[in-house]
Amino acid sequence: GRVAVLLGGNSAEREVSLRSGQAVLASLLRQSVDAFAFDPAESQLTDLIKEKVDRVLIMLHGRGGEDGTVQGALEWLGVPYTGSGVLGSALAMDKIRSKQIWESRGLPTAKYQIADKTSFEAGSCSAIMKKLGNKVMVKPAREGSSIGMAKVTSAKQLETAIQDAFNYDNQVLLEQFIDGPEYTVSLVQGRALPSIRMSTPHTFYDYAAKYHDNTTEYFCPSGLSDSQEAELATLCSEAFYALSGKGWGRVDVMQQSDGSFCLLESNTVPGMTEKSLVPKAAKVAGMNFDSLTRAILETSMP
Ligand code: DAL
Ligand code: MG
Repeated sequence: GRVAVLLGGNSAEREVSLRSGQAVLASLLRQSVDAFAFDPAESQLTDLIKEKVDRVLIMLHGRGGEDGTVQGALEWLGVPYTGSGVLGSALAMDKIRSKQIWESRGLPTAKYQIADKTSFEAGSCSAIMKKLGNKVMVKPAREGSSIGMAKVTSAKQLETAIQDAFNYDNQVLLEQFIDGPEYTVSLVQGRALPSIRMSTPHTFYDYAAKYHDNTTEYFCPSGLSDSQEAELATLCSEAFYALSGKGWGRVDVMQQSDGSFCLLESNTVPGMTEKSLVPKAAKVAGMNFDSLTRAILETSMP
C-alpha cells in the first residue's frame, strides 16, 4: 500500500522532525515501500484521501503532531497510523499529566510543583526552591527536545526560567533536579530494547547536546547489572502503557544516587535522526535502521 510519512509540522521541533522524517522515508524507499513525504504545515491533512494513502507513518515531534491532534484527524479520516492513539499521545506529550498518572500507579518520579501562567506569583519562588531541594529543572509541560527548559539553583533564576518557559506553554513543570546519570529505554512492538546511558558535559542533556555537538557520550549496553537492566525495562514498559502508549516509543529516566530510577517522560514519536536514541538501541539489539522503520510501520496494522 501507499504510505505517507508525516514530517515537519508547526511545532518547535520542526527541524528535528524533518531530519527524522527524511531518514525514515529514505529507509522505506530503499526497501521499495511506496512512500512519500507529507508535511502537514504545507498541505491539508484531507489531501491524504486524494493521495489515496493506505497508512500514515507519523514522524512529527511535539505539539500538533505528537500530542493527539493529528491522530484525532486521522481517526476522523479513517486512515491507519503508526504509534499511540489520541489519548496516549496527549497524555505523554504533557509532562505534568504523565507524572500525575505515574504517581497514582505508584511509579517513581521526582518531586514537583506546577506553575500556571494565569496564577503564577514570583513571590512563591523561594518557597518552591526550598520544597524541591534548591536545584530545579524548569520544563514547559508540553514540549520536546529540551526546548524551553532550564536548570536553576536560585529563586531569581527560577523566576526568569518560568517566565521564559511560559513562552512555550501556559503550564510549566518545576521538578526536583536529579543528578543522574540519564538512561533511556526504547520500546518497539512490546519489546524493550537495551537501555542507553547518556553522558554530557552540559548542565543537562539539552538541545545542543542532543543534536548539535559531538560531546555527548552514549553507552549501550549502558553498564547496568542484568537485574537493574531488567528492572529498568519493566519500569519503562509500565510507564509507557500507564499513559496508554501503543506500538513504539521511548521512556527517559534518571538514576538517583542510591541506584533507584525516577521517570522523566515518555515520548510517543521519539527522534529517528542520525543522532537519535531509538536507532542506537535497535542496532545493539541486532535490528538495523531499515528493520526498525519496517517495525514502526507495522505498528499501524491492526
Ligand atoms: N522529542 C525528541 C524528538 C525525542 O524524544 O527524541
Ligand atoms: Mg519528549
